[in-house]
Amino acid sequence: MTELSPRDPTPLLPIDWAYAAAPESREIVTIAERYGLFIGGEWVEPRAGASFTTCSPRDEEPLAEIAQAGAADVAAAVDAARAAFPGWSGLAGSERAKYLFRIARLLQERAREFAVLESLNGGKPIKESRDVDLPLAAAHFFYHAGWADKLEYAFPNRSPRPLGVVGQIIPWNFPLLMLAWKLAPALAAGNTAVLKPAETTPLTALAFCELLLQAELPAGVVNIITGDGATGAALVEAAVDKIAFTGSTEVGKEIQRRLAGSGTRLTLELGGKAANIVFDDAALDQAVEGIVNGIYFNQGHVCCAGSRLLVQESIAEAAVEKLKQRMASLRVGDPLDKNTDVGAINSRAQLTKIEQLVAAGSAEGADIYQPPCRLPEKGYWFAPTVFTNVAQSHRIAREEIFGPVLAVLTFRTPQEAVEKANNTPYGLSAGVWTEKGSRILWMAERLRAGVVWANTFNRFDPASPFGGYKESGFGREGGRHGLEPYLAFESA
Ligand code: NAI
Ligand code: MG
Repeated sequence: MTELSPRDPTPLLPIDWAYAAAPESREIVTIAERYGLFIGGEWVEPRAGASFTTCSPRDEEPLAEIAQAGAADVAAAVDAARAAFPGWSGLAGSERAKYLFRIARLLQERAREFAVLESLNGGKPIKESRDVDLPLAAAHFFYHAGWADKLEYAFPNRSPRPLGVVGQIIPWNFPLLMLAWKLAPALAAGNTAVLKPAETTPLTALAFCELLLQAELPAGVVNIITGDGATGAALVEAAVDKIAFTGSTEVGKEIQRRLAGSGTRLTLELGGKAANIVFDDAALDQAVEGIVNGIYFNQGHVCCAGSRLLVQESIAEAAVEKLKQRMASLRVGDPLDKNTDVGAINSRAQLTKIEQLVAAGSAEGADIYQPPCRLPEKGYWFAPTVFTNVAQSHRIAREEIFGPVLAVLTFRTPQEAVEKANNTPYGLSAGVWTEKGSRILWMAERLRAGVVWANTFNRFDPASPFGGYKESGFGREGGRHGLEPYLAFESA
């Protein structure tokens, strides 16, 4: 008999186990060492030769060298878009639609690859990029393909025509989805575009250029230029007919000042500080799921995040208790792991901003709670956080944190809920949780917010217009309302 080998001392299951890792393979994506600018249907080198490194926020791994476009590059991109405009706007709408359908189908075909790239470069959980960002991005192209040959029906007796060249500047929280929100209506309406992705998340936009080549979109119809805020500012200065911007209120205001009186059209989709309002008759378990989804989805990097919980006083204690229990089950970690609920913070700068505001919350006297969770050593991380005992005057109740941080306030009457919800310079979204249909309508009428969700949160559909009031910006994206800012009309 052969001697039995001594038993392996390591236990079959780790003592301190949560979930076995289920990482999505990154082998599916090919990332080039460096990228040029996509101008006139070709890759070109930036004229000044400048570049920067894009990293993964999960471990700070450098992923690629990205071109920093200067003013001359921006001008070249605008020229290419201008040259492509007569051809593109002259196509029958049904022909433009074919390209948009093709782009939508290619996005579906390559969805897994784009989802992995999005999570790798931006830090969001693969579960979200796979189930939200990619399907919605494709849906936006499908939806707008449907409008391309029906503009006369969308705007009867108004003779809609395209504006010309549009400049589009997008943020890092939904890189590919914001690209889709911008490009799909612009192209459906017959415009040509120059788009600048955010400096921390350029990779899906650059992969999208390859997809455009695959779709054989005519050269110059879409031009993608990478770079930081200086590149964005140069695009605002360039000879474009419209600027569409999504990002911070601060930069939005700067762009508005710059374009005032110039005749260049402008739409702005800026920050928010949404109230998620829970009444005492709401289904509490569902409401807690909605609260969690409202603030911890995409690490709270969401302009319409439900960052202020307004809960009716009589159920506040029970709601917060349930919320804390639910928070303890959120899995924070590797964005590429299919189990992950909360991924990495997008950048060092954003992490610093979150840390500063959270420190201000404690300093001003609110009570902080974070569930026990072990954060990875490398990369940018922040634990899901909730503050109770918050006053309306606290910075954490007024300023957009853009991180996984919830501020809880209470109210007694519906009137008080409305007043507190509207007590903000922003007005992008709101949530109402109640069994009573009449109360939903009563609240929706009074809330100064572009979107009001009832018994749900963070729902998006390409047919539904999205946009803000007050310092959340102006103009709508999605639906017929979202097409309108990409069109000029015959004046009566
Ligand atoms: P940001 O507004 O500076 O960046 C957004 C985009 O604008 C990026 O593509 C950037 O390169 C570009 N940009 C920056 N400065 C510009 C300028 N002067 N002219 C033209 N384009 C310019 O936002 P940032 O600094 O990344 O984030 C700061 C805060 O802004 C966040 O903490 C968050 O509160 C808010 N934010 C809101 C977003 C939203 O979806 N509403 C998205 C991103 C940030
Ligand atoms: Mg900035």
